[in-house]
Parts: sequence; C-alpha cells; structure tokens
Amino acid sequence: MTDLNNLTCIAHRGASGYEPENTLRAFARAIELNCPWIELDVHMADGYIMVIHDEDLSRTTNGNGKMSDCSYEYLRKLDAGHGESIPTLAEVLSLVSHRARVNIELKGHGAAEPVCSLLKELSWGPQEFLISSFDHEELAQVDSSFTRGALFNRRVDSYVDAAKRINAKIIILDRRLTTRTEIDHAHEAGMELWVYTANKPKHIRKLKALGADGIFSDFPDRAMKIASEG
Ligand code: G3P
Ligand code: CA
Repeated sequence: MTDLNNLTCIAHRGASGYEPENTLRAFARAIELNCPWIELDVHMADGYIMVIHDEDLSRTTNGNGKMSDCSYEYLRKLDAGHGESIPTLAEVLSLVSHRARVNIELKGHGAAEPVCSLLKELSWGPQEFLISSFDHEELAQVDSSFTRGALFNRRVDSYVDAAKRINAKIIILDRRLTTRTEIDHAHEAGMELWVYTANKPKHIRKLKALGADGIFSDFPDRAMKIASEG
C-alpha cells in the first residue's frame, strides 16, 4: 500500500487492461500487481450497490437496457466478461479486504447515502476510501468522515474553487485538461491532483514530470514501474 515516490497509482476499473473492467477478476489482478489503490464505479439498481461503469448494460455485459430498470436477479445472471457477474460493492470490498485502498466513483443519483451507510458498517478506516463523482451535488451528500474527490471532464474557471465548494480534498482531472499550472494551483491550495486515464508510458512519464499526485491506469503495473523510477 506504499505509494512510490509520492505518486499514487490507481487501478482504473481494476486492472482493466488485463481483465474485464469492474469485475472481481480485474480487482484481484490489481491486488496481485500490488497496486495500492483500485478504482470502481457504482450504480444503484433494485436497492443494490452494483459495480459497473455504464447505466446502459450493452457495452460491458451480454444484457440490454438500463441498470436502473432491471431487477437484481436479472443483473446477476448477466456475463460481465469471462463469465464474471456484475459484482456488488460489498463483494468487491470483501475480496479486497484491506489489501488496497478503494476509490468509489458515484455514477447516477442516489448512491452517496447507501454507499456511506455500507462503508460505515464495515471495520475499515475512512482513510482506506476515496469517494469521487462528476456529480458534485451527489458528492456533497457524502458523509464528511470520507475524503471527497471532485471529478472534472471539462474546463472550469477554477478547479480549486469548485472542489472547495464541496469540501473535496482531491481534484481528479482528465489527462487532456492537466497542466503544470493546474497541478501547482492544487498544491498551493493544499490539495492533491490526480489524473485519469494514462496507459501509454509516455503519458504516464509526462504526468509524473508535471508533478501529478495520482495516476489512474488500466495497466497499473506500468504506472507503478514508472513511479518507482528515480
Ligand atoms: O475516476 C477517474 C475515472 O474513472 C473517471 O472517468 O469514465 O473512467 O469513470 P470514467
Ligand atoms: Ca470511474
């Protein structure tokens, strides 16, 4: 769980360059690779916290339709790749079992409260989690004992001000929006700036040189190797 040279590596949707994204196989692979953090996406469906990126089922499973319209029984019969089911958040946390920290990205509405309730029932420390979202209204509903990560996929006047408004300590930026200026602004405000998603070594090296604090990668071993270089 030690970060290398202060650059945090995050397995994006698990080690999703090697295994089907957001499946138990992808998270197990990230742990095998000794990645200190895994990232996953959650949607509420039929009262369950399901780990999947898209609201529409068709890209990552053999199902059709919208998550929020489906029963838990239907969702659990689907193949999310290599015969894997769509996992629940509870199943992923049981698999991880403190061997990595977990960044939970809230997709859609209404996930903040059930996610925080579940996490508070567990014997994990709040520092083992980062809760993030592009939906800053939803993120503002996250219990204040958890660290909030404000996600951005487009330019705003000030990422720092936008993050401060919802008491987020980490700014998470699209790689193409990331500059040294934005990283410096975050640091001056006492915040970290993490960047998604970098898979090519040249991109990872560039972000490291700019001073990024965290890098999301589908190939977390690549990011970890570069982070460990002098
Ligand atoms: O949190 C970083 C990244 O996961 C955000 O984008 O679309 O991969 O969920 P996306
Ligand atoms: Ca995500």
